[in-house]
Amino acid sequence: MTGSRRSFLKMWAAAPALGLAPRAHALERSSFDPWVEVRPDHLRHNVAQIHRRVGARPILAVIKNNGYGLGVAAAAQAIESEPAIAGFAVVKLHEAATLRDAGVRKPVLCMGPLGESDLADAVALDIQPMVYTPVGAALERIAARRGRPVPIHVCVDTGIGRVGVPHREAAPLLRDLAGRRGVTIAGTMMTFTEDPDFDREQLRRFQALCDQLTAEGVSLGRRHAASSFALFQTEGSFLDMVRPGMAIYGVYSEPPFRTLDLMDLRPAVALRARVAYVKQLRPGDSAGYNRAYLAKEDVWVATLPVGHADGLPRLAAKGGRVRINGQLFPIVATVSASHCIVELGPERRVSIGDVATLFDWEDGSRPEDLAAGFGGSVYDLLMHLDPLLPRRILSLTSR
Ligand SMILES: Cc1ncc(COP(=O)(O)O)c(C=O)c1O
Repeated sequence: MTGSRRSFLKMWAAAPALGLAPRAHALERSSFDPWVEVRPDHLRHNVAQIHRRVGARPILAVIKNNGYGLGVAAAAQAIESEPAIAGFAVVKLHEAATLRDAGVRKPVLCMGPLGESDLADAVALDIQPMVYTPVGAALERIAARRGRPVPIHVCVDTGIGRVGVPHREAAPLLRDLAGRRGVTIAGTMMTFTEDPDFDREQLRRFQALCDQLTAEGVSLGRRHAASSFALFQTEGSFLDMVRPGMAIYGVYSEPPFRTLDLMDLRPAVALRARVAYVKQLRPGDSAGYNRAYLAKEDVWVATLPVGHADGLPRLAAKGGRVRINGQLFPIVATVSASHCIVELGPERRVSIGDVATLFDWEDGSRPEDLAAGFGGSVYDLLMHLDPLLPRRILSLTSR
């Protein structure tokens, strides 16, 4: 953060919609507890970068898994007013409902499996289901009750083998759904395997299907496929709308993408905690379970009250680094449920209470940097953040 800008807390939000019972006392948490910071300005910057990259096509923002750790409502609220944002995609129905409870009005696509009663619940909240089985009759019943057609997205499996109607069997299902008065196909979608060669074949299959049906007059809505990977790799895949997640949060999903200069992505999330304890180990002293770390000489170590139960991967002790007072220090020993230990070296360079950054938006401590240190995935870093950690939504204004 530069000196010309002032950071202040707009909101200290305990994880919303988690059904926590109201407390009879004011005590909420220790000032040492880890917390997550969210930068709405970076989210909006990343949306603009993506929009430019995809030739101003609309963006269906993937905010599943608690908004990639930022908080599903916080992520949506930060970008909903951007004209580039066509809507939001989640997997769990409860996240879709949380968005509506939070006042989000743009279309919400639920990509998780839904039975008939779930479908009715979803539609009642104006949530668009992703479908790939013969649910036309069920949708007709729901449409009849609400008095208007149900907008849906149809998922076609072109090779990922996960969900979606297999591409060879997709035409009859799409014709059936499109032909029903109670159904509006708002979108037709597929997911890439992210194997660059096979992605091209998947795209060819999808386009062949869409072209054939469009020629027959079947209305497919917006065709969409491109996740963050495709934004960098597969230009022909942008279709009518793109569907990225990680890029919106400002994180390059693959290390080589960082140097391609195609988009300037700024991480919109940070994980921080305060140093809980600092001590000097003598030669032969150990740290961590199983004595994972053995001091060879006098060395200072600091204990951070953040561990794998908070979302810091256990593997982070195998090369991850943490920033304290502007300097990067290695995580050593083991990451236990609520603690990790960093090696400070021969001097006592930090004090109890100093802020430690596990990751943020600074070069050297971006999520990509921490993940690269221990050979991990940025998806694990963001998506495994404990939803109960407090989310501080930062508002940055010029002085
Ligand atoms: C169906 C689907 N579309 C889009 C995305 C967004 O992917 P990414 O975060 O890599 O952009 C995901 C996330 O895994 C997904 O499951």
